[in-house]
Amino acid sequence: MFTAKVKALLGTELPIIQAPMAGVQDANLAIAVSKAGGLGSIPCGMLGIEAIVSDIIKVKAATTEPYNLNFFCHQMPDYNQAQHDVWQNTLAKYFIELGISCENGPNSANRMPFNHDIADAIEAFKPEFISFHFGLPEQKLFDRIKSWGTKVVSSATTLEEALWLEAKGVDAIIAQGIEAGGHRGMFLTDDITTQVGSMALISQIVKKVDIPIIAAGGIADAQGVKASLLMGAGAVQIGTAYLLCDEANTSALHRLALKSEKASHTALTNLFSGKPARGIVNRIMNELGCMSALAPSFPHAAIEITQLRQYAEKQGLDGFSPLWSGQNTSGCLDISAKEMTKLLVSQLE
Ligand SMILES: Cc1cc2nc3c(=O)[nH]c(=O)nc-3n(C[C@H](O)[C@H](O)[C@H](O)COP(=O)(O)O)c2cc1C
Repeated sequence: MFTAKVKALLGTELPIIQAPMAGVQDANLAIAVSKAGGLGSIPCGMLGIEAIVSDIIKVKAATTEPYNLNFFCHQMPDYNQAQHDVWQNTLAKYFIELGISCENGPNSANRMPFNHDIADAIEAFKPEFISFHFGLPEQKLFDRIKSWGTKVVSSATTLEEALWLEAKGVDAIIAQGIEAGGHRGMFLTDDITTQVGSMALISQIVKKVDIPIIAAGGIADAQGVKASLLMGAGAVQIGTAYLLCDEANTSALHRLALKSEKASHTALTNLFSGKPARGIVNRIMNELGCMSALAPSFPHAAIEITQLRQYAEKQGLDGFSPLWSGQNTSGCLDISAKEMTKLLVSQLE
């Protein structure tokens, strides 16, 4: 019933996009999902150009099925020593407690927005599908990608963002409900009170836009997939449910948290990167407050926190780690990504 439409939208047999998840997966998860008939994603937002190219080569060597490349397109804000000082003073007690000293670190904090250098490197591969988070790149860059015949999609977290993306010429809109794990793709406002749940968001967008919608956020099982398609989505994008899969690189501490009672309490926090993202509530979120005006702008908040995280994790502590997770962990299973993909479509005709 959905096959022709899905083929046209994603180029795949199944209406499933494995959500790109920077920091917890590489090409292996993408390959497994693409081979299973879904659209596997390579999260490029935290990778350098060499690593992006190497992941693409890895996917192409493993399968001829389509895959998705995912990039961030945030504005890079200035970051000066005075701003470093505020954040370092806020975190000083933790550095003292752990007995480590704080370094200023690289200014980019490992997250560069999509740019012409990246486009130069990936152009030869003529990627079939690219998804963006945090809006779209400037028009020239957008037109350049479209000229390759690439399908371009981006996340909308409000009806306004969906209308904005449609007017810019994207091929489909990822409707990211507030239940979603990881970063909010919000880009027209910083006001988190504008963010709505998947059911409300899908209904609002379906009624007002003419291009296909990809539902994301809180979809973790076959019933959720079926319900999203019934509501008018052409496909779904699923992240959290894949976090325990064999091919994901989710850390042992993160896996433990996802399987524990703690997973039922997630919240949006800007402490780990500077932008709101959903993760399992942990020590630093409890002590500093999940949303803090003291956290520097994205991506700079990550510089100091990453140092605490790396040291603490070696001691077996997850109190400074971004335990990204959506609100619905009920579908997380220790199985292969192929099995997960098959399970997710098991209620579709
Ligand atoms: C661990 C994790 C990392 C994520 N990283 C990215 C990313 O790099 N790029 C992106 O576009 N979305 C990212 N997301 C958000 C997903 O694209 C998607 O919106 C979300 O996973 C859907 O909700 P769900 O987690 O409830 O399935 C991430 C989500 C998670 C859980």
